[in-house]
Amino acid sequence: MKYNNKSAKTHRGIKMIKNIALIRGDCASPEFVEQAVRVLNKIAEKYGHTFNYTETYMGGSAIDKFGDPLPQSELDKCLESDSVLMGSVGGPKWEGLPGEKRAEKGLLRLRAGMGLYCNNRPAKIWSQLKAASPLKESIVDKGIDFIIVRELIGGAYFGEHSTTVLPSGEKQALDLMPYSEHEIERIGRIGFETAMKRRKKLCCVDKANVLDTSRLWREVMHRLQKEFPEVEYSEMFVDNCAMQIVKNPAQFDVIVTENLFGDILSDEASQITGSIGMIPSSSLGAGTRGLYEPIHGSAPDIAGEDKINPIATILAAGMMLRYSFDMDKEADDIERAVSAVLDKGIRTADIMSEGCTLVGCKGMGDAILAEL
Ligand code: IPM
Ligand code: MG
Repeated sequence: MKYNNKSAKTHRGIKMIKNIALIRGDCASPEFVEQAVRVLNKIAEKYGHTFNYTETYMGGSAIDKFGDPLPQSELDKCLESDSVLMGSVGGPKWEGLPGEKRAEKGLLRLRAGMGLYCNNRPAKIWSQLKAASPLKESIVDKGIDFIIVRELIGGAYFGEHSTTVLPSGEKQALDLMPYSEHEIERIGRIGFETAMKRRKKLCCVDKANVLDTSRLWREVMHRLQKEFPEVEYSEMFVDNCAMQIVKNPAQFDVIVTENLFGDILSDEASQITGSIGMIPSSSLGAGTRGLYEPIHGSAPDIAGEDKINPIATILAAGMMLRYSFDMDKEADDIERAVSAVLDKGIRTADIMSEGCTLVGCKGMGDAILAEL
């Protein structure tokens, strides 16, 4: 069943029907995705909405089922949905496969197939979890609240990859990192627009002292800057940025950067907030249909043990309600419930600290449901 997303803009108080492509993912992923589904169902019940789920396979589960990490049938399910909620894919079982058949390749093809060029990764510390940050209190107390706007379907991840044998018999590998102006402009614009909605500070992170792609990024960013005179715009080399994120994270509001740099920096940023298990992400393109996922992986080491933190995926479901379905109140409810649970000292192992109550994945789901 199709649903016209345009009406989402005017839905306030109206009962909505939304079709969600659900990718349960690999290893420990189905455990935490299930908790996000329980939360969504509770929201649906509370507000009278209907969420229909289409089971969709991508990554390791799709390799097992179809011999391909993202067959066209599964991409089509995503393209026909109102939005996609997913866990994490990949694991040791599929690691030996050739590049094109790897679980991760399914995710890259899904992002590209859906045209999702903008990945939004918030790095915000929950006040209840300050103790879980590896940074000194004096740094944390200055505040950590920034967003990494990562370009998601260009650069080295989508350039040509090849491995050839040189005349000497030695192998040589090559990964091209192409960026054209329109690709930079559309993500750069989102960087500026995001800054306008926040503290109006934008930092473009690159390696312009070495890379041509970075120099082109700056050229395009300077053009865009003229449209956003209110934004305090700066530029920083990526190696320095990696340092600044641990030294003085309070200086950042919005960071805009290319795909590979954004991948690395967003993992670093998640750590300073306490746990990667708390960080959701949204990926959007031209329309309202998005892909929502935690930024962490499928945790093969604790799969089946009911230990993994489901909060990142539950918050990702909240982001889906907010950004794809225009359900702000419903999304606020989810964030409030998570915060209330943290207030009560309920913790999964990754965010556990002295005096708190340790729960498993399902236990955390139960606790959040109880607050909704
Ligand atoms: C992420 C992941 C992916 C990426 C992998 C699994 C391809 O690390 O979402 O950050 O690099 O984009
Ligand atoms: Mg990553």
